[in-house]
Amino acid sequence: MLFLAAFYRNNNCIALLYGFDIFTYFRTMQKTLLITGGAGFIGSHVVRLFVLQYPDYHIINLDSLTYAGNLENLKDIEDRPNYTFVKADITDEQAMYDLFGKYNFDGVIHLAAESHVDRSITDPNAFIETNVMGTANLLNAARTAWKNDFTNKRFYHVSTDEVYGSLGAEGFFLETTPYDPQSPYSASKAASDHLVRAYGNTYHLPFVISNCSNNYGPNQFPEKLIPLFFNNIKNNKPLPVYGDGKYTRDWLYVVDHAHAIDKVYHNGKNGETYNIGGFNEWQNIELIKLLCEKMDHKLGRTPGASAGLISYIKDRPGHDRRYAIDATKINKELGWAPSVTFEEGLSQTIDWYLKNEEWLDHVTSGNYQNYYQEQYTNN
Ligand code: NAD
Ligand code: TYD
Repeated sequence: MLFLAAFYRNNNCIALLYGFDIFTYFRTMQKTLLITGGAGFIGSHVVRLFVLQYPDYHIINLDSLTYAGNLENLKDIEDRPNYTFVKADITDEQAMYDLFGKYNFDGVIHLAAESHVDRSITDPNAFIETNVMGTANLLNAARTAWKNDFTNKRFYHVSTDEVYGSLGAEGFFLETTPYDPQSPYSASKAASDHLVRAYGNTYHLPFVISNCSNNYGPNQFPEKLIPLFFNNIKNNKPLPVYGDGKYTRDWLYVVDHAHAIDKVYHNGKNGETYNIGGFNEWQNIELIKLLCEKMDHKLGRTPGASAGLISYIKDRPGHDRRYAIDATKINKELGWAPSVTFEEGLSQTIDWYLKNEEWLDHVTSGNYQNYYQEQYTNN
């Protein structure tokens, strides 16, 4: 029994049940897909969607498990026969060649990145190494493994709306908006977008890129606005609002982003870019007040109690004033639209964090405490 259970955990159960070896089993699968950064926030939702929706795809999740990568995010699907986790670092060039040599990938969905603007201000090099060099390593490994025969191959690069820079009070980011990145994070993502397009142009590597607005939802690391403020409200700690709090972001529920990625991967046109967003702009301070109101209700506090924790602090250097995506192209061409309103998505997110206290405790212990001290003390 134990022996069988061990095999089950190693993804071999179906092969055993059907009486053929694991290699035959994977050969019968339609596609082998590499998803990078699958242990992170958005990546884990994408991995789950693909593993469950496409049982005939073999999904390889590659992640180096930085502070932001957490295999607890994928506990519910880790025993699925079409799922394999590989711990590797995209900055390790040889490891990328080896991986592409081992698996005959049909496609790549590349999400692995350093993703937090504040960290990019204190340690830009980590962003340049992972986001620029790491992406270059993946592109080179794909090109070499595919031997310039790109029939039915696809390299999908997941990017951010921050590459477009900052908007004034009016207007939206279109796919044609010139790049104008303002932080080390957005500059490193812009560089990686340019590399992907350059490989498309120079080597005819088939690619698609999407640039998405701010995501929120379950499993987001509590360094980003919504989970950080959730955690502070829960623990009656000050809510550190940067500057005047009137910075504007366009928020999208992470599961809706995962569905958009599915559409772009399967139906997007080679060489195209798709902007993804929620048509859902909020000034930070208004969003924070809404979060406080909902938390008061869910925690049974007196209305207004959590808002009393709001505390304005020194602004982020080079802080982009406003982001807003025009998602008309993906809507018209690929039929994608967000499925939940912000009110619903925010409520579901709060409920998830309240139910998953253990997850939050695990990720906020150890190094997180040091990060928090350095980022928010003396501000
Ligand atoms: P995240 O920080 O939660 O997760 C990133 C994942 O990448 C982690 O699991 C981490 O371990 C892994 N990783 C980091 N460096 C690596 C390396 N060198 N090798 C292998 N794995 C590595 O990030 P996220 O918020 O889920 O963002 C995922 C992608 O989506 C990023 O490319 C980001 O730029 C993009 N994006 C994010 C947002 C957002 O609001 N979070 C919006 C638009 C686009
Ligand atoms: P963040 O979640 O870091 O995403 P991004 O900077 O990539 O948009 O921040 C969202 C907004 O919230 C941004 O305008 C910065 C602001 N913010 C605060 O005011 N206080 C904080 O502690 C954090 C983390 C963010």
